[in-house]
Amino acid sequence: METLRIATIPFHDQRPGTSGLRKQVRIFQQPGYLENFVQAIFDTQPELKGGTLVVGGDGRYFNREAIQVILRIAAANWVRQILIGQYGFFSTPAVSCVIRKYQAQGGIVLSASHNPGGPDGDFGIKFNVANGGPAPESVTEAIFARTRVIDHYLTLDTPPLDLDRLGGTKLKDTAIEVIDPVCDYADLMETIFDFDAIHQLFNSGHFRMRFDAMHAITGPYAREILENRLGAEPGTVLNGNPLEDFGSGHPDPNLVHAHALVEMTRGLKGLDFAAASDGDGDRNMILGRDCFVTPSDSLAILAANAHLVPGYRQGIRGIARSMPTSQAAKRVADFLGVECYETPTGWKFFGNLLDAGRITLCGEESFGTGSDHVREKDGLWAVLFWLNLLAVRQQSVAEILSDHWRRFGRNFYTRHDYEGLDLKSAELLIDHLRRLLPDLPGHQLGAETVSYADDFAYTDPIDGSRTERQGIRIGFASGARIVYRLSGTGTSGATLRVYLESFEPDPDRHQLDPQEALRPLVLIARELAQIETRTGRTEPDVIT
Ligand code: G6P
Ligand code: ZN
Repeated sequence: METLRIATIPFHDQRPGTSGLRKQVRIFQQPGYLENFVQAIFDTQPELKGGTLVVGGDGRYFNREAIQVILRIAAANWVRQILIGQYGFFSTPAVSCVIRKYQAQGGIVLSASHNPGGPDGDFGIKFNVANGGPAPESVTEAIFARTRVIDHYLTLDTPPLDLDRLGGTKLKDTAIEVIDPVCDYADLMETIFDFDAIHQLFNSGHFRMRFDAMHAITGPYAREILENRLGAEPGTVLNGNPLEDFGSGHPDPNLVHAHALVEMTRGLKGLDFAAASDGDGDRNMILGRDCFVTPSDSLAILAANAHLVPGYRQGIRGIARSMPTSQAAKRVADFLGVECYETPTGWKFFGNLLDAGRITLCGEESFGTGSDHVREKDGLWAVLFWLNLLAVRQQSVAEILSDHWRRFGRNFYTRHDYEGLDLKSAELLIDHLRRLLPDLPGHQLGAETVSYADDFAYTDPIDGSRTERQGIRIGFASGARIVYRLSGTGTSGATLRVYLESFEPDPDRHQLDPQEALRPLVLIARELAQIETRTGRTEPDVIT
């Protein structure tokens, strides 16, 4: 089998964002576009030659074609072994799990996460390194630099491989193994959680739950784990068949896109527990009857209760939260006497802390929670963690929440998103805020006094690398906070995210609606950033 050397010209838009290279499908369909990026991975990651590579994706449109392209390029670049999930499937956390378990040199995840799929939707490709986590910036920048000068890629002239049949085959000298994408991951979950306790909860006759896989990748995982291994009633998993366009849905587990599930938790007959995950299975949303657990509170609650779960019985070493995530986890860390790191947005910043054993749990407001069991955030893991807590504590989600607030105080939290903004105006808005920063400390805004104002920068405590301009932070003496940043995951225009948080120690006020509790802060945030005059928007598009 002859290796083909195909001449190509660079595309200049291949800089990976917060989470890999994410673009509209039609951009990926340009001849050479995917090929260039994949070859750039092999050109810059020499350990893949002679090594093991894991490949799979969330099943969205273009997943199968992309995998065939990657297999040929990988074989032409002397990869020794490739592990592919059957049907081309792998959730993001499962890729991380499999890289670690089989000591692979890396993995390629095909997904645009929670962005819609289909011919008019988005596609994405992300490279994960040997620890199972997303490539650090040094690696993604090297790949990007290579894409700017690339002039050829290597491939083979071979028919597509069968991705549906389990088992091994050869492509040139490369061993191709089509493996069950679920089993290794499900086994790992069994080592962490008390499956007997959860099994009993499911069979107690007074617990009803639903998991919404949103027609994305977690369907097969949730069916195997919840229904087959844990004995949840058949039908517990909703929308469990992965579809190329996610059934025309938007596989983003939040109050807006998982609205139907939220409805099922309402009222006296509402479900006791409901959860959802996103396109590639790394995000989670947790709901109880008539209640929604913010991702920020979820991280804090998992940390405060970790000792109740077998995998964390020995206690946690530390916590990390991304900067826009509420400070609730910090209160728990202080109580436990462990460190709470504040990192920039993006899962990759947790990797070094996890590898160095500085933290056990980490989380982001963007519906991501995880631990040192893999190096990605993990949707089903978070769901199982909650189920384990519900089984052990024998309380409802709402009771666990109120208990937590009573102990630690409540960090009211909300995020307001202004989507589809003109890029230039959005950048000017952030520049405007940047200019205000030096004068803000000590100033009175509404009833709040500014105690600090900065553009968040982070120095990684492990490798000393510095990341700047990560979002505008305005902290108030009361513990309240406003954060502004532009989304790094969109594929057109700009999205302004405004994160608002206030601290409430008084239990009598803990049941307030967060939008009401945060109203004064919302007004301050809009005025300070001149949102209406600069964007023409009077209200956010999405509130979570
Ligand atoms: C992806 C990353 C997360 C990050 C999120 C931020 O989902 O995996 O780690 O928190 O993007 O998205 P944004 O649109 O706010 O940049
Ligand atoms: Zn995702």
